[in-house]
This record gives sequence, C-alpha cells and structure tokens, in this order.
Amino acid sequence: MDCRNFLTFSLCFLLILPKFSSAAPTRFFTRSSNNRDGSVIKMKTSASSFGFDPTRVTQLSWTPRAFLYKGFLTDEECDHFIKLAKGKLEKSMVADNDSGESVESEVRTSSGMFLSKRQDDIVSNVEAKLAAWTFLPEENGESMQILHYENGQKYEPHFDYFHDQANLELGGHRIATVLMYLSNVQKGGETVFPMWKGKTTQLKDDSWTECAKQGYAVKPRKGDALLFFNLHPNATTDPTSLHGSCPVVEGEKWSATRWIHVRSFDRAFKKQSGCVDENESCEKWAKEGECQKNPTYMVGSENDHGYCRKSCKACSS
Ligand SMILES: *[C@@H]1O[C@H](CO)[C@@H](O)[C@H](O)[C@H]1NC(C)=O
Ligand SMILES: *[C@@H]1O[C@H](CO)[C@@H](O)[C@H](O)[C@H]1NC(C)=O
Ligand SMILES: *[C@@H]1O[C@H](CO)[C@@H](O)[C@H](O)[C@H]1NC(C)=O
Repeated sequence: MDCRNFLTFSLCFLLILPKFSSAAPTRFFTRSSNNRDGSVIKMKTSASSFGFDPTRVTQLSWTPRAFLYKGFLTDEECDHFIKLAKGKLEKSMVADNDSGESVESEVRTSSGMFLSKRQDDIVSNVEAKLAAWTFLPEENGESMQILHYENGQKYEPHFDYFHDQANLELGGHRIATVLMYLSNVQKGGETVFPMWKGKTTQLKDDSWTECAKQGYAVKPRKGDALLFFNLHPNATTDPTSLHGSCPVVEGEKWSATRWIHVRSFDRAFKKQSGCVDENESCEKWAKEGECQKNPTYMVGSENDHGYCRKSCKACSS
C-alpha cells in the first residue's frame, strides 16, 4: 500500500547513513551498483551480504503496526529450518503471568523448539536479514522458535509483551515480532489480529476460516514474513498487537518466530550468569584507568551493563 513512502524512507536512510558509518564499523548500507536481482538496498555485515527489497514489503496496518515481506525466506531456508526442528519438537508452553515460568496451556496446542543463535550459516544469514529488514539489532533478538501446527492445532489470541517481572528483566519488552511462514497451508492457520482497528473491513471469501474473520488476518504462505510491533512508538504496550494462530483445517503449518526486545537479549542472558568481563582485555584496560576514563563502555549503567564490570569492581561475584 505505502511502498512509495517506505522506499522514500529507506532511501533517506541511505542518504544519512554514510555520516554514521564510522560509528558502526561492522554494519553499513551501500547502494547496490548491480541491480540484477532487483534489490534496491544491500546490507553488508561481516558475515554476509544480501538484497533487501522494499518493493516486496506491504504495509498492512497501523493499529497494530504490521508489515508483510513477500518471499523473505527462500524455499531452501524454509526447508532447512523444518529439517533442523524435526525430531526435536516438544509441546509448546506459555509464560505464566505472575512467575514468568513456562507452563503448559490449552490456549496453545502446537509443538515447537528453539534453534540456537548463529547455529549455522543459514541461520546466521536469516538473523542478519531480520536485523536489516526490521532496523533492529541482531543482538536484541531471541533465538528463533520453530513451530508446528497439525490438524486443529492453534494458538489463542495473546500478547507478546510480558506481564511478569522476571521476563521483563531479560532484555525488556518484546518491541517487535516477526512470524515467518515455512510451509503453505491448504486451509486455516491464518494469523489473526482480533483487535485490529482498520477504517475499512478486510473482505474475506470462503477460503478463509471463521476464526480469521474475527479481525485482520494473514494467510500463511511459504517464505512470507509478517512483522508487527507490540509497542507503540512511545514505548507503551499496544493492545491492538493481540494476535493468534487460527486452527489448521487442512494440511499442516510450520512457522518460525523471532521476538525482538527493547534491549540486547544476548547481554541480558550473559548478565544472568553473574559478575563477568566480556572482553579478554578488561583486566589490562582497568589497570590503565579505563574504568574512570571510559565508564560507559567499561561499567555502563544499571539497565545497560558495560563490558568490564568485573575488572572495574562494579559488581560482586
Ligand atoms: C494474563 O494477563 C492478561 C492481562 O491482564 C490477561 O488478559 C490474560 O488472560 C492472563 N493470562 C492468564 C493465563 O492468566
Ligand atoms: C502512547 O501512544 C499511544 C498511541 O498513539 C497513545 O494512545 C498513548 O496515550 C501514548 N501514551 C503516552 C504515555 O504518551
Ligand atoms: C575486545 O575488544 C576489542 C577492541 O575493542 C575488540 O576488537 C574485540 O573484538 C573484543 N573482543 C570480544 C570478545 O568482544
């Protein structure tokens, strides 16, 4: 719908980025000089280089803020993810509202498993693609979860932001979610947003399930990726991000989920492991007085820990 604006925005980004590139040495955009694959923007990381094509992105809704990227994953990437998950699936859990612990629930009847971050080259490449498309850093993402829904299996509408304190401390709220469809589904398995507040209704024929008619819905198509934001731009929670997975009526559904947090999830994870240095040179730097000269990097703040807390004696182990 608003591809033109999106394109303009992306190009603006291109124009202002060269100024920033010295601050971000490992990641920068360059204009693709070779347009054979139709890509407008290429993002380079230390690991890979790939096309990012804004013309394949459709803005679906502002309440919630939702976008669809057609053909985000190749067939090979989809099949690879399914292969990695097969044989390792367990009944999906949900986070308990109060304790944050994983519990079984009849609201979620799928089975699933978590990949590891940067598990192999294909996973790493998709993680870099996700960061490029969402403009959100890779380290803020959780490892991807692969889900499998068979006949009648579903996930009742829920929020991806948390109600419990334990999860909130681990990287903070999930600012955005990306759902990647790894298979086609003959019928059902739509992603539905029951609290969607669009100005017009989304017309749906008999190819949609009754469940999908409860709100704005997206049909799963192999390779497509749906991005939506769970927080408003002012960082308050957005209740219209309520979403569910409709029961699969015919066929089976495979999907991959990426949750992206407001803070670094990698560092929150490490922080849990206690009082540590995160760079081999910390001790040396501390001796040279860097804890005082460069406190943001070395010590950090309460919410965003620095890299050398142990050597700077900013914590106790
Ligand atoms: C968790 O809290 C939310 C919001 O208060 C509520 O809508 C939901 O039903 C609760 N879920 C459970 C499993 O208690
Ligand atoms: C944040 O933004 C939402 C959506 O625009 C609005 O409804 C809400 O009142 C805002 N809250 C604050 C504290 O600014
Ligand atoms: C430690 O810091 C140096 C200098 O900034 C950097 O090149 C290196 O990658 C860091 N090592 C780790 C493990 O972060």
